[in-house]
Amino acid sequence: MKFSAICTIATALLPFAYGSVIAERSTSGIATWYSGAVGACSFDGYTLPSGVFGTALGLNLYSNAAQCGACVSISNASGTKITAMIVDECPGGCAGKTFDLFPTAFSSLATPSTGQIPITWDYVKCPITTPFVLRTKTGSSQYWFAIQVYNANQAITKLEVSSDGTTWKTAERQTYNYFLLASGTGTSTVSVRVTAKDGSVITTKNVPTAADQTVTAASNFS
Ligand SMILES: *[C@@H]1O[C@H](CO)[C@@H](O)[C@H](O)[C@H]1NC(C)=O
Repeated sequence: MKFSAICTIATALLPFAYGSVIAERSTSGIATWYSGAVGACSFDGYTLPSGVFGTALGLNLYSNAAQCGACVSISNASGTKITAMIVDECPGGCAGKTFDLFPTAFSSLATPSTGQIPITWDYVKCPITTPFVLRTKTGSSQYWFAIQVYNANQAITKLEVSSDGTTWKTAERQTYNYFLLASGTGTSTVSVRVTAKDGSVITTKNVPTAADQTVTAASNFS
């Protein structure tokens, strides 16, 4: 086969391949709206980054807080897109609806009195360039250690804790979006190793185990 023929085939296949990937990943759904609250994900006091709206996740996709902090791109039927961060769970799976949006998110896609609209959506990386933050829970101590991640640019898949910098314990994600070591760490500080959805790992040293402490990581994920 001549080189030019190969090029023609490649060019012909390329748009098709891209189109298929997008069609497969972008999912249809329905969005509604509610008063909006930093709810089930326990991101209390967190200000959403500029240009990022808030949403509750429905369809029983909340899955023990696994998607807390993840961002989604949501398009209305004429292609207007917004980016929203999942910060809450829609009770009862939102009766089959995909997202319950904060008011400003919904009004960017439709007139609020419409109530509900068809959408297409996909997970995207959050447009966050500042580092993520670790926060210990009220009641945390060296005997009962609970910590969360916020302001991450993608979903968190794993959080491990080390008291000696060598051996690591995987903390268990709770439905209120903290990672828990119920038997504690035995030390006043620990190293915390966080893995994101794309597999990137960032370790933060000298994280206090005491209650209500925040530590800013060195960066966000790649
Ligand atoms: C999509 O959102 C844009 C911007 O708010 C709006 O002008 C347009 O009418 C919406 N499309 C539909 C089908 O609601």
